[in-house]
Amino acid sequence: MADSPNCDLKSLSPLQLFEKVTEQGEKVRALKAGKAPKDEIDAAVRMLLSLKLSYKTTTGQDYQAGLPPKDQALINNGTTKEEDEDLVDPWNVQTSNAKGVDYDKLIVRFGSTKIDTDLINRIERATGQKPHRFLRRGIFFSHRDMDQILHAYENKKPFYLYTGRGPSSQAMHVGHLIPFLFTKWLQEAFDVPLVIQLTDDEKYLWKDMTTEKAYEYAKENARDIIACGFDVNKTFIFSDLDYLGSSTGFYKNIIKVQKHVTFNQVKGIFGFTDSDCIGKISFPAIQAAPSFSSSFPQIFNGKENIQCLIPCAIDQDPYFRMTRDVAPRIGYPKPALLHSVFFPALQGAQTKMSASDVNSSVFLNDTPKQIKTKINKHAFSGGRDTIEEHRKYGGNCDVDVSFMYLTFFLEDDDKLEQLKQAYTSGELLTGELKKVLIETLQPLIAAHQERRKQITDEVVKQFMTPRKLAFEF
Ligand code: TRP
Repeated sequence: MADSPNCDLKSLSPLQLFEKVTEQGEKVRALKAGKAPKDEIDAAVRMLLSLKLSYKTTTGQDYQAGLPPKDQALINNGTTKEEDEDLVDPWNVQTSNAKGVDYDKLIVRFGSTKIDTDLINRIERATGQKPHRFLRRGIFFSHRDMDQILHAYENKKPFYLYTGRGPSSQAMHVGHLIPFLFTKWLQEAFDVPLVIQLTDDEKYLWKDMTTEKAYEYAKENARDIIACGFDVNKTFIFSDLDYLGSSTGFYKNIIKVQKHVTFNQVKGIFGFTDSDCIGKISFPAIQAAPSFSSSFPQIFNGKENIQCLIPCAIDQDPYFRMTRDVAPRIGYPKPALLHSVFFPALQGAQTKMSASDVNSSVFLNDTPKQIKTKINKHAFSGGRDTIEEHRKYGGNCDVDVSFMYLTFFLEDDDKLEQLKQAYTSGELLTGELKKVLIETLQPLIAAHQERRKQITDEVVKQFMTPRKLAFEF
């Protein structure tokens, strides 16, 4: 990067080092082509060799022109993944294991940190709240710099929450609620501002969809999000198509990010190719920008250094690895992250669900009868083939989707444990377990629908209007 300050090579990321080597290589070529004095060329070559050495020490790989370092976490379209590795990026989640993705391995590959009991206890001490079941049950299982957020909070320093959703269709399913339910809990526990990005622009770029349709879905999805119970005085929901052009801060941050991330880097992180449209290639800067408080001058009174915490599913991590890599170079704090596991499809934990298959999950607009039929008919069972065998050998909770759904939605820890034991021992049959799930989800969805009905266009508009929130900065 031509305008980045000279910094210690050791502090550079593999991608930055790669850039430096490439740049230096070009410089040597230019000097030679321009018939520069020999000592100047020699100095440039020595620099090149030393950069290549640093690159090799850092990455364990030899520098190869045009081949950016393999991001440890980037398992791109299966082409670079090892045989038994899970595929996880913003567009694909795939594993061959019926239990789902191996999250411990993912933590190692992504270089994030496990959320352990110590951290959960610290959250409990700091907030005085019983940790949310998603924390108690390892559903939010990984983090980056959450200890820093807690340190700041314990010292009365402010922070804010940022999460989002790509409005790919009108209908959301129960899995889509996971980050929002957890974010709502965090917002109440810490009493902080929240911004929610609806990336209708992203859906326009990636799907066969008009901008009008994407915007319409954004507003429809906003209703479901609001129905989770967010406080309008503390929450700003925005559509990219709407807000980006009107904000005095947002676009500035987009171009700051764009100036500091090269095509090689996004290729390495996201697997973009030369034939992807430039809209996709530059989109990561748009998802990065809300991580910086100056993107919301109306909320933060123009302050640029309010730290951000992002709860999200782990497939979104590539965006924020990139964001954290550029943040210090443009003078901003790195956002902290809390990562969740994926919500399994009714058919099994091998893939992330798709909103386009109505039978792949329970949707927020399903009737009680649809919920019952779907679960009975489609929820993958870890039970045995016959009642006799089930009684004798017991069921397998690790692959049973009804049991997995209950770990997400049944609040009572004791009841969950009882169900697990009874199912594993064979005392509880699959049909009975499914009945518990049906009876857990039906009232929950009905209550959601009731709250959603109360949300008028006026309320949606209030949430989506840029304004100061109930916090002083
Ligand atoms: N790209 C996300 C999606 O397709 C949407 C999103 C934007 C998001 N900003 C975010 C998700 C921040 C989590 C956190 O769903």
